[in-house]
Amino acid sequence: MNVLRIDSSPLKEASVSRGLLDVLQNKLESQGHEITSKRDLYYDDKVTLGSQDRYMGYFTPADQQSDAQKAAVAGSNELALEFAAAEAYIIAAPMYNFGVTAGLKTYIDLISRAGISFNYLPEGPVGLLKDKKAYVVVSTGGTPVGSEVDFVTPYLRTFLGFLGITDVTFIAADLSNVNREESIAKATQQIEAL
Ligand SMILES: Cc1cc2nc3c(=O)[nH]c(=O)nc-3n(C[C@H](O)[C@H](O)[C@H](O)COP(=O)(O)O)c2cc1C
Repeated sequence: MNVLRIDSSPLKEASVSRGLLDVLQNKLESQGHEITSKRDLYYDDKVTLGSQDRYMGYFTPADQQSDAQKAAVAGSNELALEFAAAEAYIIAAPMYNFGVTAGLKTYIDLISRAGISFNYLPEGPVGLLKDKKAYVVVSTGGTPVGSEVDFVTPYLRTFLGFLGITDVTFIAADLSNVNREESIAKATQQIEAL
C-alpha cells in the first residue's frame, strides 16, 4: 500500500503522537508498505486558513475562476489530490481542548473537496475514497479516549467515513500527563500487534 503520513502536532521531539507515528511507520514498512508522502501540518506552507478567494474558488468552475481564486485554490487541489491518491493513511491526532488541533482541522478543510474526495448526489453527499485503510493515533494529556468529552475520535470517524474511509483503526495514547511512559507503552503494544 502507498501510505500518506500526516503529523499534526506542533511539537517535534517532545510529541507523543509523532513518536508513535514513527513506530507505526516502521511497522507498516516492515510489512512491505511504503510511506509515499508526508505532511507535517504545522510546518507546511500549503496548510493555511485561506480567505474568500479560496472558498469562493471552491464553488466556481475552474474555467470561470479569477486568477486570485485559481492561486488560492491551488494548494488545496494539491493536498486533496494527494490525499485521494493514497491507499492508506497514518494520522497523528493530538487532542487540543477536546478536539483536533487547529492544524489538523485546517488540513481537513483543505482536503474535503467536492469532485475530489466526495461528490454531491441527488440523495446527498457520497464519499469517493473507497477501499482505503486509516490508522489514527490519538494523544491526550488527561482526557480518556472514548470518554464522553473525547471529540477527537468520533469526529475523525465521522469525517473519514464521510469521505468513504470506513476501515479505521484508532490507537489511544491517552493520559500522557498522568503517566507518559505507560501511555506510550500501551499504544506501542497496540501498534506492534497490528
Ligand atoms: C493547547 C493545548 C490544549 C490541550 N487540550 C487538551 C485536552 O483538551 N485534553 C487533554 O487530555 N489534553 C490536552 N492537551 C494535552 C495534549 O493532548 C497532550 O500533551 C498530547 O500528548 C499532545 O500530543 P503530542 O504530544 O503529539 O503533541 C492539550 C495540550 C495543549 C498544548
